[in-house]
Amino acid sequence: MKQKQSFSDRALCGSTATIVSCKAGTLAANASPFCSRRRDKACFEIAGSVVSERVDSGRSGKKADCRPPLHTREENSGPRGPEPCTGIDFASYDYLALASAPRMRQAVSRAIEAGTPIGAGGPRLLRGNCQEHERLEAEAAQFFGAERALFFDGGYAANFSVLTTLPQRGDLVVVDSLVHASIHDGTRAGRADFRISAHNDPHSVENTIRDWRAQGGMGRVWIVTESLYGMDGDFAPLEELVALAALYGAFLMLCEGHATGVYGEQGRGLAAPYAGRDNVVVIHTCGKALGATGALVTASSAVCGFIINRCRPFMYATAPSPLIAVAVREALLILQQEPERRERLEKLISFTHREMKARGLPRSSNSQIIPYIVGDNAHTNRLASAMRKRGFDVRGIRPPMVPAGTARLRISLTLNVNERDATSMLDALAEETRGYSR
Ligand SMILES: Cc1ncc(COP(=O)(O)O)c(C=O)c1O
Repeated sequence: MKQKQSFSDRALCGSTATIVSCKAGTLAANASPFCSRRRDKACFEIAGSVVSERVDSGRSGKKADCRPPLHTREENSGPRGPEPCTGIDFASYDYLALASAPRMRQAVSRAIEAGTPIGAGGPRLLRGNCQEHERLEAEAAQFFGAERALFFDGGYAANFSVLTTLPQRGDLVVVDSLVHASIHDGTRAGRADFRISAHNDPHSVENTIRDWRAQGGMGRVWIVTESLYGMDGDFAPLEELVALAALYGAFLMLCEGHATGVYGEQGRGLAAPYAGRDNVVVIHTCGKALGATGALVTASSAVCGFIINRCRPFMYATAPSPLIAVAVREALLILQQEPERRERLEKLISFTHREMKARGLPRSSNSQIIPYIVGDNAHTNRLASAMRKRGFDVRGIRPPMVPAGTARLRISLTLNVNERDATSMLDALAEETRGYSR
């Protein structure tokens, strides 16, 4: 990325199309895109290294903590940094290989030729409301079986926005312990009380709701989870959660980040059977299987109307690029017209799990997301580097992205690889992990 060296040493491209530039520091590794939220004071010395980051943990009841500088982070295996995309792809979320699919490129090229602007030129409630957004939202609502859909910049923005807008003061948000950071962050930044429930445990959700009611909680309950967990590759017990929501008059908010496009009829996601219900809000991210970027929030017209009028990121931010809306529309069409993509991925998933078993590698999921839990952070790093040296782009995931003591390789299956690639990657993994007892 070109920039004037006299002003800054480095620039970072943010997920909501922002560019952060600063002196050669490591801002990215510690910064939240929403670090300026109400009660947080995030202070960075950016002329060199980060000195401290104060975080007021708000209603969680914990005292404000002062995080250590990056070079002494507890994982002790060094700060992170973006690395180049080299090697065979076992790391991306491009599950259906749509990110560079010719149909996606052609759709965007045609839109450019037809004069579609690159930028929306303003927020949706001002002049940034383009016909591309409206067409996408109408088609997405129909595809996902919801009354209405709203297009956001990304999954992080959508989760954060919904959680800081819909649950009100006096409500309770019950969040699964392993949900994505955007859900944790949105919950903490929002107005409602919140509790963390044990992972994938409907009893824990129910007990949490009961305890809260017994303590006098009067407001509405929001049960929040992912349908397929991005770091563990396991599925949420959706039926039980839907039943609990009905029993306790609760709303259910489901992030389908890793399921959209891959699971459900025509790739409508795992929440599709419940999508039309008034008490269900679903987030479909568009940067994973849909090969673009952005996110679609699907819900009832009443809920979407509330978001449009109350959601600050929707009201005050420049609308997503109309060209990206075109790309997402094309992706939704591809899902309907090229079912063979999902079928190929399904076969690749079964094949890979079978081959793992044949090599004595532990079965850790049933999905396209395969964690290989290592535990130790430094060893995870070494293993990931060894795999990359062998030509396989497998990434190590360390705390805080996953709970302490569960550092892992996150193997991701996409149509960017075939069975031969999977076989040689597993051979390499078996060799690299031989003799390593966890
Ligand atoms: C479940 C889930 N939701 C939301 C996000 C963030 O989505 P985006 O990358 O579109 O901001 C992620 C990112 O990996 C995710 O795993």
